[in-house]
Amino acid sequence: MPHIVLLLASALGLSAAQPDAVIQNIYPTTIAPGDEDFSCGPETNTTTDGGTDVHITNVSVPTLTLQQAGDSPSSTAVIVMPGGGYEILSYIKEGEAICEYLNELEIDCFLLKYRVPARPDEEGMPWSWAPLMDIQRSMGLARSNANNYKKVGAMGFSAGGHLTTHVSTTGWQERLYAPIDGSDKESARPDFSVLIYPAYLTPDGPTTTNVAEEVVPDKDTPPTFSVQTQDDGFLSALGFYVNCTSVGVPAEMHLFAEGGHGYGMCDDDSNALCEWPERLASWLQTQI
Ligand SMILES: *[C@@H]1O[C@H](CO)[C@@H](O)[C@H](O)[C@H]1NC(C)=O
Ligand SMILES: *[C@@H]1O[C@H](CO)[C@@H](O)[C@H](O)[C@H]1NC(C)=O
Ligand SMILES: *[C@@H]1O[C@H](CO)[C@@H](O)[C@H](O)[C@H]1NC(C)=O
Repeated sequence: MPHIVLLLASALGLSAAQPDAVIQNIYPTTIAPGDEDFSCGPETNTTTDGGTDVHITNVSVPTLTLQQAGDSPSSTAVIVMPGGGYEILSYIKEGEAICEYLNELEIDCFLLKYRVPARPDEEGMPWSWAPLMDIQRSMGLARSNANNYKKVGAMGFSAGGHLTTHVSTTGWQERLYAPIDGSDKESARPDFSVLIYPAYLTPDGPTTTNVAEEVVPDKDTPPTFSVQTQDDGFLSALGFYVNCTSVGVPAEMHLFAEGGHGYGMCDDDSNALCEWPERLASWLQTQI
């Protein structure tokens, strides 16, 4: 049945040409840097939310999937990092669905399947370092891609929002792994960053405005767009926004009363929160 609908749509000229997604392992070795003494069970997919989302966990081989918006490359790409508490990845709701939307905006999308669960500190790495390596490496791969992007932004949800903030602040200057190839010479600093209900930006609980040391911005932090609701258990973007203001980093923040945490693209027309994708579209026009 879906095939018939697709055929009909393309017969009517409704479907734009979109090339197949291209998946790559981001490291040439099966054991990723820092994982020499770490192992977990095989990668597992669990279908959730009535079949509309897939939670992936036990990721040891991180991948980057490029979905171009159209046949020819766009000038801008965004690397999307799903959330899931650094335990799982909400891969459709905070990943593939986001890439679809960016593609509608004529932006090419790299979906990063970063390593989860967080590696224990005793393995010699602070808890969020394996994912940070993965986005550092991915920034270089996206920049050295043959599509020759003029701008590469970063976008993340919840824990992925922490990861996006980390690589945008203290996390881009120095690679945490030995260089692998020429792509590691490219800057890991995103040209802009997008934080949707980011988590863990505070060091001392979810509802303060303190800013965790690994995500304190400085004047070299890229322009930032963020979305936050008041009834989110993690009121975590406020202090970061104030910090951006004090160091002169352009920041746009959208605050809504209700919606909690984990709403993804959000599809409740009666809730103003669900306008966030349009607000983002307008902001992106100022960045690309
Ligand atoms: C992930 O791997 C660990 C072993 O490291 C295992 O205990 C756990 O059950 C695995 N999770 C899933 C969902 O398979
Ligand atoms: C896991 O789910 C993702 C998202 O739907 C899919 O791309 C991937 O192929 C799945 N992997 C396995 C092993 O089923
Ligand atoms: C960041 O915000 C904290 C309070 O949350 C403040 O103590 C600190 O001075 C700020 N740093 C900058 C650089 O604005």
